[in-house]
Amino acid sequence: MIEVSREGAVALIRLNRPKQLNALNSALAAQMIAAVRELDADVEVGCLVITGNERAFAAGADIAEMAGLSAQEMAAQDFFGEWEVFARSRKPKIAAVNGYALGGGCELMMMCDFAIAGQGAKFGQPEVKLGVMAGIGGTQRMARLIGRARAMDMHLTGRMMDAAEALQAGLVARVVPDTEVLPQAMEAARVIASYSRPAVRLIREAIGRAEEVSLAEGLLFERRVFHGLFGTPDQQEGMAAFLEKRAAVFRGD
Ligand code: HXC
Repeated sequence: MIEVSREGAVALIRLNRPKQLNALNSALAAQMIAAVRELDADVEVGCLVITGNERAFAAGADIAEMAGLSAQEMAAQDFFGEWEVFARSRKPKIAAVNGYALGGGCELMMMCDFAIAGQGAKFGQPEVKLGVMAGIGGTQRMARLIGRARAMDMHLTGRMMDAAEALQAGLVARVVPDTEVLPQAMEAARVIASYSRPAVRLIREAIGRAEEVSLAEGLLFERRVFHGLFGTPDQQEGMAAFLEKRAAVFRGD
C-alpha cells in the first residue's frame, strides 16, 4: 500500500491505494510505520518525502474500515495511535501534495515538517460531516499552524480550502504548479540531506519545542543546542568552507 524508493540520501514514500484515493487504513498505517522506523534508523537517509498521486495525497482515514467499529474497539486498539511514531520520527519529512488532503490525509500532511502543494490541491477536515472529528492530530496541529479561528472554521464547517488559501493561512509552505510538486519536494529534500545531520536534527527539535514549552524555555533550549553544535566537526567544516570561499562537505557528525 506504499512504495518506498531511494534517491541517494532522500527516501520517497508514495501512498499507493489509488482506487480509494489513498484512504489510510490500518494495513497502510502499519506499512508506513514499519518503513519510517527502518528509514529513521538508517544513517544514510537525510530526508523523507511523502507523496500520493495526482488525484489525492490522501482522502482521509478509511471510512469503510472504521464504520463498523465500536468506541470500545477503537479504544482497545488505540485506533491510529501508531501514527505518533510517524510524527515523532527524527528524519525531516516533506509532504508533496497533489489533489485531496482531507481528514487523516490533511493530518498526515501536518505531521510532516512542511508541505509543498500543487495549485490544484484541496485541504479539509470533513470528519464533522461523518458525525465524528479529527483523530490523528488535526485539531491540535491545525490550531497551532493556522490559528484558532481558521482551525475552527475548517473543522466545524468541514469545508475545503484551496491551495492559495492554504498558503496564505500557513498550512503549507509553498504552492507550485501541480507538475512541479514532486520535483521541488525532492530538490528541497536533497538540499536538506546535504547539510550537517546534527544541525538539521537540532533545528527540527528546537522548532518542535516552540509548540511545547514557554518562550523562555524554548529560547534557552535553542541557545544550548546552538552552543552544542560548536562541538561538531560539521560546524568546523561549515565555517571553514565559508571563510575559504569553497563549498562545505559535511560528514554528518
Ligand atoms: C474510504 C474512500 C475515502 C475514504 C474516498 N474513498 N475517500 N474510501 N475512505 N476516506 C473512495 C470512495 O468511496 C470511492 O470508492 C473512491 O475512493 C473514489 O472516491 P469518489 O467519492 O467516487 O470520488 P469523488 O467523487 O471525486 O470525490 C472525492 C472526495 C470524496 C471529495 C475526496 O471521495 C470524499 O469526500 N471522500 C471522503 C473524505 C472524508 O470524509 N475524509 C475524512 C475521513 S475520516 P468506490 O469504491 O465508490 O469507487 C478521517 C478521520 C481521521 O479521516 C481520524 C482517524 C483516527
